[in-house]
Amino acid sequence: MKVIEGQLWLPRRGLVDGCVGIGDDGRIAAVRKVLEGDERVRVRGMVLPAALDMHVHFREPGLTHKEDWASGSAAAVCGGVTAVMEMPNTRPPTDSPAALREKAALAARGSLVDFGLAVAVRRGTVREPWFHELPVAAWKLYPYDMTWDDFRATAAEVVAAERRPLVVHAEHPHRLGDAPLRELADHTRNRADAEAACLPGLPPSPWLHVAHISSEAGLRALPAHATAEVTPHHLLLNLDTGLGLAGKVDPPLRTRADNAALWAAFRAGRPAILASDHAPHLPEEKESDAPPSGLPGVETMVPLMLHRVAEKRLEPGRLVNAMAEAPADRLGLARGRIAVGQPADLLAVDLRAGRRIRADALHSRAGWTPYEGREAVFPQRVWRRGELVAADGEPQARGGGRPLFPAKA
Ligand code: NCD
Ligand code: ZN
Ligand code: ZN
Repeated sequence: MKVIEGQLWLPRRGLVDGCVGIGDDGRIAAVRKVLEGDERVRVRGMVLPAALDMHVHFREPGLTHKEDWASGSAAAVCGGVTAVMEMPNTRPPTDSPAALREKAALAARGSLVDFGLAVAVRRGTVREPWFHELPVAAWKLYPYDMTWDDFRATAAEVVAAERRPLVVHAEHPHRLGDAPLRELADHTRNRADAEAACLPGLPPSPWLHVAHISSEAGLRALPAHATAEVTPHHLLLNLDTGLGLAGKVDPPLRTRADNAALWAAFRAGRPAILASDHAPHLPEEKESDAPPSGLPGVETMVPLMLHRVAEKRLEPGRLVNAMAEAPADRLGLARGRIAVGQPADLLAVDLRAGRRIRADALHSRAGWTPYEGREAVFPQRVWRRGELVAADGEPQARGGGRPLFPAKA
């Protein structure tokens, strides 16, 4: 048995000195004060459950100049993320059984992290013969190319028909402005109230999950019973950060007051979930006259938050809940906790070992980061199902990621 020894973050108990024993199946076989084992790792610092990032864009198939499963998942593990849910806006989009099978095969070949795939819905998808059979992690509803009525009706029909989450990008185009983009604030103004105006149209259902909530007004407009996620960029970045048009993202970066409102809500656990919305684009694309929306972030999400923990501005238990427990619960997965039977997806971190974020030390094909120069605490080691997949900011393996929602044989 492989044994990892350190300050373990245990459910209901918090930090406890102890040992995690890992079986050959990659699951936690024992959690005890003292454990014998043939292979021992002594960690200086904390051992936490690794993160499940339920919102990433790994761009394969079709957009692999921006990212692919190998590069995106290498970035993920170096940032303490061992499982992801990947979004369907690839080329082709993941909106059919065939497209899902194709993407699952690409992920099984390239991914270092375990993966679930979100599948796009549109009006009438619930009546497809495969709707209830498809091995999806969640359904995803984008508001684009759809009337407001179709958007609302689609959301309502999916949550009525399903017992799996519907993730919604809640900014419908009928509320978007189209002023030309001279500076980042133009983009923010074009989308100023799109989120808060869109949310009341969504069904108050426990099956609804609101992606990337970004504003104080949006927080107030969250539908009853729904869950939501918040991203590091909406917590930490705003129009004064000085990113210029490279900071273009949907929903937009806003004000310090929005950061503060989101931070207070996140610390209080509503919204419970932290997700990166890792949306890589190349620097030349971001610097063009018509820059695409999206920021890379899967590798920096956990390190930025660990730095907040080191500064005592965030409780470690809240971070563990936000990055591991709550997303696992949301997707119905038995993972995210250091407990017997759970997959041994763990990260080791020494909160005293901070360093500045540098794009050239990151692994996304994006090649840039909106957090250049910021302080962060990267995990020293990361294990996926007991296998060491990252150490000192470098991947230690290739491939091996498995589906979190396997197709029935
Ligand atoms: C995302 C992308 O680039 O795929 N962009 C973004 O600004 N967030 C799409 C999305 O999540 O809406
Ligand atoms: Zn989105
Ligand atoms: Zn996204």
